[in-house]
Amino acid sequence: MDKFEIEGGYPLRGTVNISGAKNAVLPLMAASILFEKPFTLLNVPDVQDVYTLAELLDVLGVKAERLEKGKWRIDPSRITSTRAPYEIVKKMRASIYVLGPLLVREGKAEVSLPGGCAFGPRPVDLHIKGLKALGAELNICHGYICGELKAPHGAEIIFDKKSVGATAHIMMAASLIPEKTRLINVAQEPEVVQLGEFLKASGAEISGLGTDVIEIVGKEHLSPPDGYSVIPDRIEAGTYAVAAYLTGGDVKIDNCIPEHFRNVIDKLKLAGAKVEEGETFIRVTPESDFIKPVNIITAPFPGFPTDMQAQFMSLMTVAKGTSVIKEGIYPDRFKHAFELNRLGADIIVEDGTAVVNGVEKLYGAPVMATDLRASAALVLGGLIAEGKTIVDRIYHLDRGYDSFEIKLQALGAHIKRVKS
Ligand code: EPZ
Repeated sequence: MDKFEIEGGYPLRGTVNISGAKNAVLPLMAASILFEKPFTLLNVPDVQDVYTLAELLDVLGVKAERLEKGKWRIDPSRITSTRAPYEIVKKMRASIYVLGPLLVREGKAEVSLPGGCAFGPRPVDLHIKGLKALGAELNICHGYICGELKAPHGAEIIFDKKSVGATAHIMMAASLIPEKTRLINVAQEPEVVQLGEFLKASGAEISGLGTDVIEIVGKEHLSPPDGYSVIPDRIEAGTYAVAAYLTGGDVKIDNCIPEHFRNVIDKLKLAGAKVEEGETFIRVTPESDFIKPVNIITAPFPGFPTDMQAQFMSLMTVAKGTSVIKEGIYPDRFKHAFELNRLGADIIVEDGTAVVNGVEKLYGAPVMATDLRASAALVLGGLIAEGKTIVDRIYHLDRGYDSFEIKLQALGAHIKRVKS
């Protein structure tokens, strides 16, 4: 397993280009099953999850091919299987996105139940409720969701809670049903909005994107838009923005959409950063001469993203005071806290809340990544820890960050990948 070796104490300086959003491209790739002719996607990030989904699509008969950096061609002309095997699904929960499109296109599907993950249970009951409302008959058999959809129809579906995955999943399935479907209490994340725009460009009638209620009138046949460009990754952008302030550097974060991570920018300013903003970039430098403590509650968009909680916690470990971080989405998403404590942080976790008492400095040590964003948080800790930090199991990080150590090296970080 590869590791990162980091020498702390070097402020980040320069410009970093943000790649396409992992959580936007995955539903776009899964939506390919709805179409019957090839198309290309642009600004696709080189992250492991894209290759994992391409592997799953290949098993189903959909050919996904990387033509050059950022450009992929997807050919869904022929579906040769409707079974998504556990061996692939266990690597990536977003695999469940293929279930609905297979049901509406082929009338049947078997998709392995995704496992849990490092930050607790991740049920798919809202996905199943939505598909059943559209007419699917689904059962759980030997760890698979097995189902048929013989008579698809429109529906009105109220989600018990805002779910990015369930909203994206049901919107995809409803787009191939030529009746009206109304989704209430939907996720409003930019990635969900982009999927909706993509489906509209393929012929589905969709209104209400970015609001609490989405209405879809699907079509019997959809035609994919060609050369659609994936939006920039707001979580990658937020990660570099936090790293810039944490290291006391001066970084321009280019090719991003500030509006997509407004809450993160606001919290950074509260913590004492100066954030200059343009249409497609931000520039982060210190304003205050010390990092101020900030309280966070993670929430669905436009609230503070849970995917930025770990990275922000790293910043708070060396704030001048105490911060309280509450997880409103995944109460168990705090494994990184215990690893940061190995670097000398002072964090107490209880009942979905972390109390972070700021310390003078962190000290390098071997630590272990447990999930994608926790890995990023540990790298950030290593960037300021005195001495050497080794971050193990960085395959988690490779799932969602394109060329992470290369981009950091270009900003002056002393980080290298050690293959083992
Ligand atoms: C998406 O996961 C993201 N993944 C996650 O990013 C992100 O943390 C999460 O949204 C929240 O923003 C992708 O987009 C591929 P949810 P998803 O359904 O769709 C509960 C990363 O780091 N829930 O919005 O699985 C769930 O337990 C990853 O890039 C149900 O109860 O998240 C959670 O408490 C990690 N039943 C809440 O809803 C369901 O059927 C929000 O989850 C589905 C979800």
